[in-house]
Amino acid sequence: MENFDFHVTTDIRFGYDRLDELPQVLNTFGKNVLLVYGGGSIKKSGLYDKLYELFNQNDNHVVELAGVDPNPRIETVQKGAQLCKENAVDVVLPVGGGSVIDCSKAVAACRFVSGNLWENFVLKRSYNGPALPIVTVLTLAATGSEMNGTCVISNMDAQIKLGVHGTSLLPKVSFLDPTNTYSVSSYQTAAGSADILSHLMENYFNATPGTEVQDEIAEGLMKTVIKYLPLALKEPDNYTARANLMWASTLALNGLVGKGKSGSWSCHAMEHELSAFYDITHGVGLAILTPRWMAHILDDDTLPKFQRFAEEIWDVKGEEAKRTAEIGIQKLYDFFVSCGIPMTLPEVGIQTEENFEEMGQRAVAHSSISNQGFVPLHEEDVVSIYRACMSETSFV
Ligand code: NZQ
Ligand code: ZN
Repeated sequence: MENFDFHVTTDIRFGYDRLDELPQVLNTFGKNVLLVYGGGSIKKSGLYDKLYELFNQNDNHVVELAGVDPNPRIETVQKGAQLCKENAVDVVLPVGGGSVIDCSKAVAACRFVSGNLWENFVLKRSYNGPALPIVTVLTLAATGSEMNGTCVISNMDAQIKLGVHGTSLLPKVSFLDPTNTYSVSSYQTAAGSADILSHLMENYFNATPGTEVQDEIAEGLMKTVIKYLPLALKEPDNYTARANLMWASTLALNGLVGKGKSGSWSCHAMEHELSAFYDITHGVGLAILTPRWMAHILDDDTLPKFQRFAEEIWDVKGEEAKRTAEIGIQKLYDFFVSCGIPMTLPEVGIQTEENFEEMGQRAVAHSSISNQGFVPLHEEDVVSIYRACMSETSFV
């Protein structure tokens, strides 16, 4: 295990009926609030009205940044940063999924950034400046953005989607009420859980030796998601299922299972190019890529970890090592299929291979997968993995 710092200070308010604490939380930062939300799910669910009841009781001055797209755009960040300046905003309040929270983080920082925000904020990839305080109300279990210092922003004109990390982007407080995820569609529930699993697997398949604590925790969280996703799909308002998925989402990407390890995430680097070129759902892209990536890198060196994954997560027993590993990959694929996730690129609208070479070059250029991946991936590896995603695949 490597040396690390773990200082994740987000104040988590987990559970139902916690939103009544929001006014008191907001008052620690000020009265002027930028409310950020997406395409309207919070209006349908009644959360928007509940928030305004609280704002009115608390004499908040509220400005809205509405319509944040999944895969949030730099133009929306620009608009939000401007609103913050014009209205002397004290605190940014994203109410939504990872896209809304990520956009809010960028807005909170860009309030203090001048000039071209794409160049002066996103392309820098790491941010050391100040940010307005961020208080989140999470409505979708997926990204872990509610308790980490990362935001992922897209520039659709340039077809580039990049992550930025900064300590000041870490939310001050996050309200995690599982009942706020009852209204999430089956598709987004499954996609979000695929994202949680991917965060765990990206950390788990890592070459740093001696990280048993992180690996055991990751296995426990993976098993939790695999247990509760089917239940949440069957019974969308099952509190236990939603609560376990929500807390797994937070713990999968707050540093708990990633600290003490070095290396680069392979599937996320490849997925961000898919989203940048085709604007697909992040978790679905990851579900499609992950089993093909696993099959691509399975060899004598990686076999022990894949064997452990198959035995611990999928309960594969009594087979020789390579076959055990392959059955594990097949079970992951079958699990995603059983949860209704489209598992080929044509099913999400990517019909041709015309951009694969450029996407392969960019996946390598935008990340360190070619030298720090669990198994280093070069442009030709990425293209080969994309090609494998064009049709249904059998791994055994
Ligand atoms: O926009 P609204 O109307 O709110 O609808 C959203 C959106 O259409 C809907 N939704 C959210 N909560 C809902 C709901 N619908 C009904 N009921 C609710 N309670 O779900 C759709 C998807 O929302 P989105 O926020 O895009 O999903 P997700 O949370 O998966 O976020 C994905 C974004 O996060 C980035 C991804 O790349 C992508 O841009 N990531 C952020 C990370 C981070 N900050 O650490 C790490 C991740 O790996 C990821 O890259
Ligand atoms: Zn992710």
